[in-house]
Amino acid sequence: MLIGAKKGSPLILGVGNNEYILASDAAAIVEHTTRAIYLADNEMVTIEPGGFHTKTIDNVTITKDLRQIEFSLEQIELGGFSHHMLKEIFEQPDALTTCMGGRIDRRKNSIKLGGIASHLRELTRTRQIIITACGTAFHAGLVAEFLFEQLARIPTETEYASEFRYRNPIIGDRTVVIAISQSGETADTLAAIEQAKERGAAVLGIVNVVGSSIARTTDAGIYLHVGPEIGVASTKAFTAQVAVLSMVAIELGRRRHIGSHEADRLIRELSATPDKIRRILEQSDHIREIAAANIDHDNWLFLGRGFNYPVALEGALKLKEISYIHAEGLPAAEMKHGPIALIADEMPAVFIATAGPQYDKIMGNIEEVRARGGKIIVVATEGDRNIRQYADHLITVPEAPEFFQPMLTVVPLQLLAYHAAVLRGHDVDKPRNLAKSVTVE
Ligand code: M6R
Repeated sequence: MLIGAKKGSPLILGVGNNEYILASDAAAIVEHTTRAIYLADNEMVTIEPGGFHTKTIDNVTITKDLRQIEFSLEQIELGGFSHHMLKEIFEQPDALTTCMGGRIDRRKNSIKLGGIASHLRELTRTRQIIITACGTAFHAGLVAEFLFEQLARIPTETEYASEFRYRNPIIGDRTVVIAISQSGETADTLAAIEQAKERGAAVLGIVNVVGSSIARTTDAGIYLHVGPEIGVASTKAFTAQVAVLSMVAIELGRRRHIGSHEADRLIRELSATPDKIRRILEQSDHIREIAAANIDHDNWLFLGRGFNYPVALEGALKLKEISYIHAEGLPAAEMKHGPIALIADEMPAVFIATAGPQYDKIMGNIEEVRARGGKIIVVATEGDRNIRQYADHLITVPEAPEFFQPMLTVVPLQLLAYHAAVLRGHDVDKPRNLAKSVTVE
C-alpha cells in the first residue's frame, strides 16, 4: 500500500495501465500516462494492487476528476536542440502565435479573453491593480505595470509575492489582484493569493500549467498555452506572459483610454511580434561570439529605461542563474547614483537602447559608462546607424512600439545568457541550487 497526502506542495496521481505514479509535476509522468488526478490540500490517495481511493485527510471518501494532461511526450523532448532552454528560446515565435492565435481575431481586429470574461467589467472599473509574482514572472509583471498605466491609465503596482504576503497590504474597494506564474505552484505566489482573497480582492491568474494550484485557486484567469517549459531558466513563459498582459492592457485601454482606432493599430503591431522574434533568433551565432568575448568577466551590468528596465532585470537574472556570473539589472539613469563606481577594466555593460521616447537619454547613459572604461554591448533597433559608434558589440531587433519591445529585447539577452553558460561549461537546464518550481517558502 502506498499513501500520498497533499499539504502545500503539489501532488498528482498519474493513472496508467496497471500502474500508478505519484509526482509533483505532470512533466514527470507524461512518459507513462497522460491521465492524472490533482490532489488538493488535505486530500490523500491510497494506492493498492487493486486500485486507488481518494479521501480527505479525515478519512472521508471523495471523488476526484480524472484529467487529461494537455501536453505530449514529444513536447518535452529535445527535438534536436542541445538543451531545453535553447529549444524553448527558439519555440517563442510559435508559442506566441498559439498564445495569441485563439484570442486575437485579425479580421475583426478584436481581442477575446474568454478566461476572464466574467471579470472584465470589474477590471475595467477597478481603481487599482496589484500584480504579484516571483522571479521572471515578476519581471513580466513590471512590464505590465507600464502597460496598464500607459494604455489603460489604471494605477498598478507590481509586488514580489514573497514581500506582499507579509506586508499587510492595503487592498481597497475595487482592487483587482493579478498573480503571474509559469508553474502555477510557486509557494510564495500561492500565499500572496490567499492573502489577497482573505481581504476581499478578486484574484486573476496568468498561468502556464493547466490545472495547477494557482489556476485552481484564482477566481478566473488566462492560460499561456505555450506548452511545457522544462528549462529551469524561464524564457518562453516570459514572452507569453507579456503577450497575455499586452492583450489585457489593449482591451482595457480600448474601454478606458486609448480608443478603438489606437487599439486596432496596437493589435496589428502585437500580432507582428512572432515574426520579429524569428529575425532576432537568426543572430544566435553572433550573440554566441559576443558571449565568448566577454565570459571571463565576473561582473556585468544590464541597463534599460522605461519598458526596457524590467528587461534589464530579466537579462541579469538569466545570466546569474545559469552562468553563475554576477550581474545587476538597473534603470540606466540610476547608474550615477552609485553603481557607476563599479565601472572599470572593460566591465561588460549591456544597454537596451531601442528607438523610443527615452533613446536620447540612454545614449547619455552609454557615454557615461564608455568614458569610464566599460565594454558596451547594445541591443538597438535595426537600421540605427548612429549607435554603431558607441557600441563595442551590437545586436539588433526589429522596430516595434515601445509597449511591445520587451518581447523582442529580452530574446538576445536569453541567448547571451545561454551561450555564456554553455561556454563556461555549465548544465544549462539544471543550474546548481535551483528548482524549476519553488514549491516551498
Ligand atoms: O513558476 P513561476 O513562474 O511562479 O516561477 C517563478 C520563479 O521561480 C521563476 O521565474 C524563476 O525566477 C526562474 N528560474 C527564472 O528563470
